[in-house]
Amino acid sequence: MESSTYLLEVENLWKVFVEKDSTLHMEDYLSGSGDVNGQVVAVRDVSFKLKEGEVYVIMGLSGSGKSTLIRCLLRLIEPDYGQIRVKGQDVTAMGLKELTEFRRTQVAMVFQHYGLLPHRTVLENVSFGLKLQGVKHKEREKRALQAIEKVGLLKWTKHYPEHLSGGMQQRVGIARALVQDADLLLLDEPFSGLDPLIRGEMQDELLRLQAELKKTMVFVTHDLNEALRLGDRMAVMKQGLFVQEGTPRDIVMNPADEYVKRFVQNERQVSLLTETAEEKKKVSNLTPLIGGKQGKKAAGSGR
Ligand SMILES: Nc1ncnc2c1ncn2[C@@H]1O[C@H](COP(=O)(O)OP(=O)(O)O)[C@@H](O)[C@H]1O
Ligand SMILES: [Mg+2]
Repeated sequence: MESSTYLLEVENLWKVFVEKDSTLHMEDYLSGSGDVNGQVVAVRDVSFKLKEGEVYVIMGLSGSGKSTLIRCLLRLIEPDYGQIRVKGQDVTAMGLKELTEFRRTQVAMVFQHYGLLPHRTVLENVSFGLKLQGVKHKEREKRALQAIEKVGLLKWTKHYPEHLSGGMQQRVGIARALVQDADLLLLDEPFSGLDPLIRGEMQDELLRLQAELKKTMVFVTHDLNEALRLGDRMAVMKQGLFVQEGTPRDIVMNPADEYVKRFVQNERQVSLLTETAEEKKKVSNLTPLIGGKQGKKAAGSGR
């Protein structure tokens, strides 16, 4: 849109959860005078930028603020301070009407627990968002079928969610996001509920889709392996704060503190041995062998 070269820009974003009988004084947090009892700083002064087509992974332990942050990006949770811009548009300043339009057309979200409508078929689930947009029936069906084809579920269009495996349900979740044709995709631990084998397949699938569609993605995970496979860049989050940002390789090679170090310990060997993303992808398929204890021995590290 405007002159901005970034698709997504987040600046000094804060979210503080406050108990009913407590009042938030943002200026106290901004001046650094310390946290208030009974207030949870879920997102603390977070800034980052994404170029078009980038996959940005946010990684952190449970409770570190990942979901709060990603939900703030489309204001499913209202941030308390800071700015969010998508294609130069100030999301934080949008009125309700503008925000609704923004959510329908510019951004799509995939949730951990799929969030499918149980009494609607796969086809209906995928086309539902278009219905809300007022797209005509025929066009809706055509676009939904295209999205369903992309995730390999064309044989399942008439089935209901309960008849699908977890992996298939999440494919529907992804198709539902794709059908909106938004440039920005937000994914909150989409594969965390899946068993490891299916999870790996879904990661492959996402990489394949990304090569074809070149979306801009924010991908939340608590799994380093997943972060390394999918991320062009990544941030490590701890207690609401971005403790480190960089390429996966930077983070593995030069962890900023003990917290990050503990996350990446097992991955150091893998990255020492590989340079390109392509190689890394191959090797990370073998991580159970290479990243584990045997790998450490095999790599013969002196540390
Ligand atoms: N609605 C809420 N009210 C109060 N505290 C919340 C709410 N949602 C999340 N939190 C707190 O904010 C912190 C970050 O949570 P969350 O964003 O869900 O982390 P993650 O997704 O990384 O597991 C946690 O301490 C959590 O307990
Ligand atoms: Mg979460």
